[in-house]
Amino acid sequence: MKNDAAHIKVITASGEPLELEAAAGWNLLETLRANDISIAANCGGRGTCGKCVVNIDDKERLACQVNVADGMRVKVKSGEESFVIIEDYASGKNLAEAPDNFDNLSVAVDIGTTTVVLQLIDSVSGKAASTRSFLNPQRQYGEDVISRIQFANEGGLELLRDAVRKSLLDAIKSLCADVKASPAQLKHICVAGNTTMMYLLLGYACNSLGIYPFEPEFPHKDKYTFLEVFGADADGPPVYLLPWVSAYVGGDITAGYLDCRGSDGETVFLIDMGTNGEMMLWTGDNVFCCSTAAGPAFEGGGIACGTGSIPGAISKIELAGDTYAYETIGGAEPVGICGSGVLDAAACLLEAEIIDETGRMDDDHFDDGVTIAARKDKKPILFTQKDIRELQLAKSAIRAGVEILMSEAGLGISQLDAVYLAGGFGQKLRIESAVKIGILPEEMAQKVRSIGNSSLGGCARVCRDLALLGEAGGLARRTKEMPLSTHPKFQDLFMDNMAFGDI
Ligand code: FES
Repeated sequence: MKNDAAHIKVITASGEPLELEAAAGWNLLETLRANDISIAANCGGRGTCGKCVVNIDDKERLACQVNVADGMRVKVKSGEESFVIIEDYASGKNLAEAPDNFDNLSVAVDIGTTTVVLQLIDSVSGKAASTRSFLNPQRQYGEDVISRIQFANEGGLELLRDAVRKSLLDAIKSLCADVKASPAQLKHICVAGNTTMMYLLLGYACNSLGIYPFEPEFPHKDKYTFLEVFGADADGPPVYLLPWVSAYVGGDITAGYLDCRGSDGETVFLIDMGTNGEMMLWTGDNVFCCSTAAGPAFEGGGIACGTGSIPGAISKIELAGDTYAYETIGGAEPVGICGSGVLDAAACLLEAEIIDETGRMDDDHFDDGVTIAARKDKKPILFTQKDIRELQLAKSAIRAGVEILMSEAGLGISQLDAVYLAGGFGQKLRIESAVKIGILPEEMAQKVRSIGNSSLGGCARVCRDLALLGEAGGLARRTKEMPLSTHPKFQDLFMDNMAFGDI
């Protein structure tokens, strides 16, 4: 039966009826993908995320766990998420200024695990002409770095590489079209991202990133040809990559350093609070860094009514008597709670004593959660006990990392000149909520500033001055990485910081 043709009927997530001829016995998820049918599959087909659920002959099944059979009727329930990325999510810096001179156009690129952002800039004046951003298309093969490494190691490397470079090429062409130019006229392209994103862009095997001692097998190189990065049918300028420090501290952090390093001799803490929380602490003499697996709660993932930074995402919540006042992105009807809203929700519940310092909800809310708002269809947007637990894991991982870097550097908080929170999440986050729930020590609050996408900002700086790549390379070489998973204090600090206060 394995190689016989099977005829199946599919109704896509958007309701389109299709008839397909497929190979009987083939995996259904693969078959749908091969036919360009959009389907959510965040774990990349490992059967763990539950997102690829379909109706088959009126029964619910996971498409990644089912083989195609002749006569099957399949209804896809949810397509791959395709939410709109908001421009101010991409960067806090001023956009939409015309370049002074078209001979100096360059493109800065930040490849995030979730979001990719590109900016066309004048590499002399530094002005940004236009921006593009999109969800990383590799998400269909795995939501986080670990699942993408696994997918690459199981034979999916070329699929992952093609997905991102095709989207990048389209976005670069589209940026150039804004000013009636072509990619061949660009001066250069500067790219940053975590180490896995860089490996996948270059088509490097990811085996070494996924196994102990987690060291990148292929050395970093500053400069590649357009052909090497984007493939044979393309013509364009050299591509520069920001250097990575290690397997889990990437070029996004070295770019972030270039974006906010300040004057010589300052002591600065840079924290990028994504799914993989990366942080770097530099003093006049030393540089320390670490990464910590915070999980997806800061990006609205793993939260009952969580969502990405999309129009209608609740990004700010405050107590208003017995109810909750909230703001949504773009002022749209509420659809869910994004990362900054998750922090606010926890801070409000602590304030209202609905959760205690251990994170337990009171009996009135323990089973069903707290209603923060209602959707247009009247369904409640809830914040639940399980959401609190997800947040506790995330905040504790970051706080433990902060404390370890501070103690390794032998510094007290009073010695820090500045603390920068980077990333789209960092930009909308309310410092009071972060402190209230204990992500950051209270004494740090006065020094904290949200700086938006510092990875993109660092790339834009390199577009203006390629010599900065040398500085970033020197930084990467002298940075001391603290591997948290084997650090003797990490487990204790992680457990201690799960609570929302001293217990
Ligand atoms: Fe099927 Fe995740 S459970 S893709």
